[in-house]
Amino acid sequence: MSRKKIALIGGGQIGGVLAQLIALKELGDVVLYDIVEDLPQGKTLDIAEASRVDQFDVSVKGSNDYKDIEGADLVIVTAGLPRKPGMSRDDLLVTNAKIMRTVSENIKQYAPNSVVIVISNPLDAMVTLCQKVTGFPANRVMGQAGVLDSSRFATFIAWELGVSVKDINAMVLGGHGDTMVPLVRYANVNSIPVMEMLERKYKDPAKAKEVMDAMVQRTKMAGGEVVKLLKTGSAFYSPASSAIAMAEAVLRDEKRVLPTCAYLNGEFGINGYYVGVPAVLGANGIERIVELNLDKDEKAMLDNSVDAVKSLIADMERLGL
Ligand code: APR
Repeated sequence: MSRKKIALIGGGQIGGVLAQLIALKELGDVVLYDIVEDLPQGKTLDIAEASRVDQFDVSVKGSNDYKDIEGADLVIVTAGLPRKPGMSRDDLLVTNAKIMRTVSENIKQYAPNSVVIVISNPLDAMVTLCQKVTGFPANRVMGQAGVLDSSRFATFIAWELGVSVKDINAMVLGGHGDTMVPLVRYANVNSIPVMEMLERKYKDPAKAKEVMDAMVQRTKMAGGEVVKLLKTGSAFYSPASSAIAMAEAVLRDEKRVLPTCAYLNGEFGINGYYVGVPAVLGANGIERIVELNLDKDEKAMLDNSVDAVKSLIADMERLGL
């Protein structure tokens, strides 16, 4: 029986961490592809040389030739430019769409049966383009955004309440931009509503709401906060970890319920767009969309987020990308 083959398209900051995490978890053999000569070979040689110390037995190879991704079971795409300070994710549209088109054509040719996870930004547009160009069924093309946005939200809640982040359940829906929708009403600490814990802590519902609003706002802007500090690129450890959680769910057929940028066919009243929603991830990629009741305000925020995704897709089509 052969090991799973995982192709990483883009050997930059996120690509390098992805390769290392896959090796550490022994999820499969890795091919790290990049257009820059020697870069993926250098990173994978470095990672492979830790195999004795870290005790992993998978192959980790770098390549500048798409042929090497042939037969990959899973592909994770990070090719493209990251943000610089002052840029929005949408500012990357023109450059990254051109890159995504070439990347997708090669995935279609060399890994026609793969499940694809897209990380490149602007995420909702890039995953839409990838599905269109590969022509893969929509269940086999998904985007990573919600796992990270939710993890950021959970982290801020844990810090605020002084409890372990392991006990926080919090989810963010919608597009991967400033209009994303952190679901405050459903956020809980091992079943205890976060709002109730905040109200008990502050003994003042107005103050509790103010604190929650600040966490929601920080979650929405969390990517930009990291960009501002790094100055030369965007977040890479947490996006890589988040994509690995999704990859692991697919490779191990875990049926995890993870917020995923998924193609919607009427779920949540949305038709024909990729949007972040809870989905069951397993061997067949996106196996099911999980719907949940949203109140009037939550639905309005989701609709607003979907409008932002729609306008990004319209821009992409108008520019002929
Ligand atoms: N084919 C393959 N790789 C490419 C191509 C291409 N046509 N064009 C650029 N690349 C590579 C670059 O050479 C670089 O190594 O993509 C890699 C991107 O890596 P980084 O610049 O380090 O960016 P990273 O932080 O990894 O983010 C990648 O994910 O979160 C998003 O906004 C982020 O769009 C960005 C992407």
